[in-house]
Amino acid sequence: EKSGYDHYMLKEIHEQPRALRQTISGRIDAEDGTVNVDVDLPSEYVDSVDEIQIVACGTSNYAGRYAAELLESIVDVRTTVEVASEYEFDGGRDPWRTLVVAVTQSGETADTLSAIRRAKRAGARTLAVTNTLGSTIVRETDDSVFIRAGPEIGVAATKTFASQVATLTLLAVHVGRARGSLSYGRARELLESVRRLPNAIQGVLDREDRIREVAREYADSDAFFFVGRKLGHPVALEGALKLKEISYDHAEGFAAGELKHGPLALVTEDTPVLALLTDGSRPGETLNNVKEVQARGAPVIGAATADGDGEAAADSTYLDVELPVPATGALEPLVANVYWQLFAYHVADEKGRPIDRPRNLAKSVTVE
Ligand code: F6R
Repeated sequence: EKSGYDHYMLKEIHEQPRALRQTISGRIDAEDGTVNVDVDLPSEYVDSVDEIQIVACGTSNYAGRYAAELLESIVDVRTTVEVASEYEFDGGRDPWRTLVVAVTQSGETADTLSAIRRAKRAGARTLAVTNTLGSTIVRETDDSVFIRAGPEIGVAATKTFASQVATLTLLAVHVGRARGSLSYGRARELLESVRRLPNAIQGVLDREDRIREVAREYADSDAFFFVGRKLGHPVALEGALKLKEISYDHAEGFAAGELKHGPLALVTEDTPVLALLTDGSRPGETLNNVKEVQARGAPVIGAATADGDGEAAADSTYLDVELPVPATGALEPLVANVYWQLFAYHVADEKGRPIDRPRNLAKSVTVE
């Protein structure tokens, strides 16, 4: 069932364009700039919401962070993201005007379920964004939206991350339009980014040979640092998580601007820095941080918006490896994430790790 791939993870990485087409199928009206995500949130309720709280763990939490950046700008509602195991909703703020969104691929993560139970007890409305029909989270929340990524077998979440971000973007457009806070023009622009995602990701997948070469070249490094700003920050965190899970190497993700506030002390010529330099992640500012690490001898692998010729447009003087990312607006960091997935996969494969079943980890974590 791995369809010729050595691992489910690689198969699922390659399934992303198809998974995303399913995620968005029938949900976008590009002409109207509207979205139908089959969720029955009454419009009076949507109007009255003054806070959105996202709760999730691991990769789903990073999808939540990506969405929160977008939500704050699109919907103009205060949005927070919490690690579900840290969530305490005591009803102190106005529970009736708070929408609590659980992002969970499996729908069975114990920490996320208990966060949702707390929110419900305090009187908040709850919404699940999940991949799993009939899961516990679906039964326990007021509404649910399915990401439709298809079953994911590899322990490392890949295609579900992409489909979660796409679904949350659609949800944000839906809520933004319903509240009147999102203009027609901006809605169309965002929906166009979503529509372009499958082909853009295919463009990255077509460069797998290059990223395999890069992964082999740097596989024996001491540690790996992923950096990005804004929408690039959750992608940096996700890139590092993927690499540590399956290769067992030390990897960390930082907001690029934080490098100089500590992590720079760890940077040497044996610590490659993987930098996001795309639209939506303030590439010009991140390039300044890249210069700082390069001056310390670190190899820099940069994923940057492609120019008209399909080559990376960032200032290549500062990059040891340039990876071009097809133009996709606000979703470009999500497209670039596929390079980080392939990088993690090929580093782990080079080391002969049991990629689909990394030590000590389970696909769904049903204990708190
Ligand atoms: C990482 C990974 C985990 C899950 C986390 C939440 O690759 O798979 O970090 O994202 O355990 O799982 P769900 O989304 O099922 O709640």
